Amino acid sequence: MLSEKMLNALNTQIRDEMYSEYFYLSMSAWCSSNDLPGMASFMRLKGEEERSHAMKLFDYVHDRDGKVTLLAIEQPPSEFESYLDIFENQFEHEKKVTASIHNLYALAMEEKDYATSVMLQWFIEEQVEEEKEAQEIIQQCKKVGESKSALFMLDEKLGLVAPGTDTNA
Ligand code: FEO
Repeated sequence: MLSEKMLNALNTQIRDEMYSEYFYLSMSAWCSSNDLPGMASFMRLKGEEERSHAMKLFDYVHDRDGKVTLLAIEQPPSEFESYLDIFENQFEHEKKVTASIHNLYALAMEEKDYATSVMLQWFIEEQVEEEKEAQEIIQQCKKVGESKSALFMLDEKLGLVAPGTDTNA
């Protein structure tokens, strides 16, 4: 049985993962509107990945006989300065997610909820990958500079990358 504190924190994290989906979908929409179909596809898949994170927590709460309460999701930003701004926003957002996962883990340890702490280890490892991937793409965006052909190639490459795979490959 989850403690009330743990349950509330997990429900909040479900909301935050759903917000991540919304945020990345908004980035995908911006990329589509700015003739960057590869990046649009990449961010759309990132959004789907975020939903799977939310559902992992959703199922876990039920596995522990808890009650999922879906909280309101705020409106994400819809305007971005550039594709570089998109990936910088993503990186900043992932750093916040990492901090909230670490807080959840600390709470699980405080509550002596070992099952939840073990479940959260998957998320801790996932955040290492999420931050690494965002950082790599930022570096690649910076290398593009003013080159239209380099941008075309990067966009095409990101359209072929499934999130979570090596973006340097
Ligand atoms: Fe669910 Fe991108 O962290």
